[in-house]
Amino acid sequence: MDPRTAAQLNPHFALVGGQEAVDRIVDEFYRLMDTLPEAAGIRAMHEPDLGPTKAVLKKYLSEWLGGPKTYSAERGHPRLRMRHAAFSIGPAERDAWLLCMKGALELVVTDEQFRGQLMQAFFKTADWIRNDPQGRPS
Ligand code: HEM
Repeated sequence: MDPRTAAQLNPHFALVGGQEAVDRIVDEFYRLMDTLPEAAGIRAMHEPDLGPTKAVLKKYLSEWLGGPKTYSAERGHPRLRMRHAAFSIGPAERDAWLLCMKGALELVVTDEQFRGQLMQAFFKTADWIRNDPQGRPS
């Protein structure tokens, strides 16, 4: 497919830089989670081997950005709140997740305005995933 046509079909996926860029974002995201002291608590929620989790997040984020729909083909509807219900996620955990994502985006996505838009969208999802009893309308 002509790359311009592809960009029209999935503008965000193309804007980020396609699969290679998404893979780098996820690798950097988990590298930061593995090293930042602020992220130690959420790192501990994950398995010692981050390989399988990385592979899933790469597929999820590609699809979320408008790229290939491999995630839902393999895992069905994301049901992110349900899939995170086993973990205790409050504002500190949400912010640690966002800190890792911010750092990863800074290393991979050069357009500052676009990074800001992505962070706003991640904030909404991360805040919706939050399952601490405080401050939730539900
Ligand atoms: C708010 C803070 C968050 C924490 C503490 C957190 C933590 C986790 C943990 C511990 C897992 C399980 C990993 C595994 O089983 O290997 C997971 C899975 C996942 N998370 Fe998060 N997460 C957060 C936010 C998010 C956000 C904002 C997104 C999406 C933008 C997201 C997307 C996913 C996906 C796609 C999976 C895999 C689901 C599946 O099994 O299909 N998470 N998360």
